[in-house]
Amino acid sequence: MTTELRVGVAGLGTVGASLLHLLETRSSALAARCGRSVRVSAVSARDRTRDRGADLSAMAWFDDPVALAGSPDIDVFVELIGGDNGPAEDSVRAALATGKSVVTANKALLAKHGVELARLAEENKVSLSYEAAVAGGIPVIKTMRESLAGNEIDRVYGILNGTCNYILTRMEQDGLDFSDCLADAQRLGYAEADPTFDIEGNDTAHKLAILTSLAFGSQINSEKIYLEGISSITRADIEAASELGYRIKLLGVAQRTDSGIEQRVHPTMVPKASAIARIDGVLNAVAIDGDAVGEVVLVGPGAGGSATASAVLGDIVDVARGLSVPTLGMPAHELAPYKAARMRMHEGGYYIRLAVYDRSGAFAEIARIMADEGISLESIVQRDRTRTHTEAETHGDAPQPVILTTYETTEAAVKRALGTITARNVVAGTPQMIRIEKLR
Ligand code: HSE
Repeated sequence: MTTELRVGVAGLGTVGASLLHLLETRSSALAARCGRSVRVSAVSARDRTRDRGADLSAMAWFDDPVALAGSPDIDVFVELIGGDNGPAEDSVRAALATGKSVVTANKALLAKHGVELARLAEENKVSLSYEAAVAGGIPVIKTMRESLAGNEIDRVYGILNGTCNYILTRMEQDGLDFSDCLADAQRLGYAEADPTFDIEGNDTAHKLAILTSLAFGSQINSEKIYLEGISSITRADIEAASELGYRIKLLGVAQRTDSGIEQRVHPTMVPKASAIARIDGVLNAVAIDGDAVGEVVLVGPGAGGSATASAVLGDIVDVARGLSVPTLGMPAHELAPYKAARMRMHEGGYYIRLAVYDRSGAFAEIARIMADEGISLESIVQRDRTRTHTEAETHGDAPQPVILTTYETTEAAVKRALGTITARNVVAGTPQMIRIEKLR
């Protein structure tokens, strides 16, 4: 295999521009590592005139990424357009159908059409690689699909969104509000084009759906993921978590249970001593519980042009070396249908923050409602009850922040108890509830 590998790149945003830069500056090392040279021969993007800090003059320009994908003048198609339909989907299909391997960073596309695209790749005897789609620069796909192929995996979980982790870290470390931190994350190029995808957990869910399929050999299913973002997390929660010995992280968790596979994305209290609690800023981390190996934790940059381009380039190198493995770790027809566990069956500890009216008997009523649901309380703390006697007289029974933590119970019991507490008029507003994850 001595002929050069001709790469077609569609999408020249932050990641695309970094990829061109890496391919140009590393060309001789890459040629040595692959045994052949690797060259970008054609590109496609929306705006031809934008300065991307790379010389495009020797590359053919395509206005239409689908035409680029079908061109006989490229050997591998790199899709960095984004989105789960439209030009991204059409161009990936066109490339696979014309016998070209595809490298993509597009988690939304894989979350929606991954199994079908894997089938198309198999039919055309080419590979579909997507290391950059999950956790940016962290080589988690290869790790799960190849290195851990000898394990039964019970749980995979992680911090899969750099923007959310950056926001939560800054809120905690600098005492800032959510919106200021989000603006900084956008300025630094971590956030998606629509940042609600980051903060409401959709981006994490797309990545989790891919990891779930690799972990459990099941078809990808991103429709049945329980989803809660971080926009309801306040500084009061972050401070209370810290006092209780936890930090709050947006986790994606996929876990085998008796009733099926749990896939959930939500803000989570993790013990300060756990590996995942120490992951700060834009860093991502993925923990994989394998029966033979134990727990493996991978940490690295989850977003940003250069880190993501590094993962894309690793996949291009595989194509150049002629390495190919089944897209989802086994032939697509071997993947089991996805069987979802019901979130109401989820078991764990809970943190609950209530604004309790300051009247006698309120605590007792809350404790009784919890006991009636079989929920055992680990702690109850009333915070900031600093009013003087005179203020209390002025404000009447103004609500006071109260933090409860529970021992292991079920989601259904907690939801029922909170419903009853709210209906009994002992609290103001909507209770805050954050799940506590049991970690090593
Ligand atoms: N917006 C994503 C993040 C980028 O913040 O992690 C990588 O998917």
